[in-house]
Amino acid sequence: MSAEKRTALITGATAGLGKEFARQLAAQGYNLVLVARSEGALNDTAQALATEFGVQARGIAADLSDPAAPRALFDAVQAEGIQVDYLVNNAGIAGPNLLDEGDWGEQAAFYQLMMISIADLCHLFVPPMQARGFGRVLNVASMAGRIARGGGCNYGPTKAWVIALSEELANTVGKDGVKVSALCPGFTHTEFHERAGLMDMKNSMPNWMWYDAETVVREGLAAVERGKAVYASGRLYRLLDPLFQSVWTRRLFSVSDGR
Ligand SMILES: NC(=O)c1ccc[n+]([C@@H]2O[C@H](COP(=O)([O-])OP(=O)(O)OC[C@H]3O[C@@H](n4cnc5c(N)ncnc54)[C@H](OP(=O)(O)O)[C@@H]3O)[C@@H](O)[C@H]2O)c1
Repeated sequence: MSAEKRTALITGATAGLGKEFARQLAAQGYNLVLVARSEGALNDTAQALATEFGVQARGIAADLSDPAAPRALFDAVQAEGIQVDYLVNNAGIAGPNLLDEGDWGEQAAFYQLMMISIADLCHLFVPPMQARGFGRVLNVASMAGRIARGGGCNYGPTKAWVIALSEELANTVGKDGVKVSALCPGFTHTEFHERAGLMDMKNSMPNWMWYDAETVVREGLAAVERGKAVYASGRLYRLLDPLFQSVWTRRLFSVSDGR
């Protein structure tokens, strides 16, 4: 597949997996539209990748926890005559626990970022891909969406929903030349855990449970091309995934969680 003159839009592209998606897609020849909140970091990333890979790259600052953001983003790229051929819904945070005290607004903003913005961006960008007979959508989910555990009741359920959406979307638009995948990384070295105040947890875990962003992204991009609707990245997590789907493992986890 020639990626010449095709454009990839990547959310959460200033750090971690998103920045690596931008890098690897630029290396494949895709022009880039990079999205995140921090305008300075976006512009720096876009400029560096444009110079290194000779592609066109630009940043659009947007807060995807704002319900108006997906439409504004779509309108902005339309206004510039850019066709988005590859959509990477990657932006994400650990988020507040469902049962935390406090205003519902923070929870609503979390669900907007983690689920509704993804649905909205698919709603806006996928039909033009169908009409052109080519498109790629990679939704970054997580192994946390593959098994229910007692805990925050927030992050895992949003990722389970991203997986369900991706699988159904893949079945719906595959015949139109649009491939859709939910990528399920396990623990990955990015800024995610530091931002979430989870460095003690991270430092207490063995190294072999952690993958680097380069591997996760490389495997994810290959999985889309191979038409994998749901893909666990990293050999360890590919081994664990079928176990996570077993009723016996789920029963064991529910007992160990005290149910
Ligand atoms: N790291 C892991 O172990 C791991 C494992 C499984 C799944 N994941 C998933 O992988 C995805 C990427 O995470 P990461 O690990 O690469 O995290 P990261 O290094 O913290 O990067 C997160 C990116 O999302 C952007 N972002 C955060 N909130 C945003 C908002 N409201 N609007 C727009 N952009 C926003 C951030 O930029 P700004 O702050 O500039 O907005 C940043 O570019 C997430 O969906 C995460 O759930 C991560």
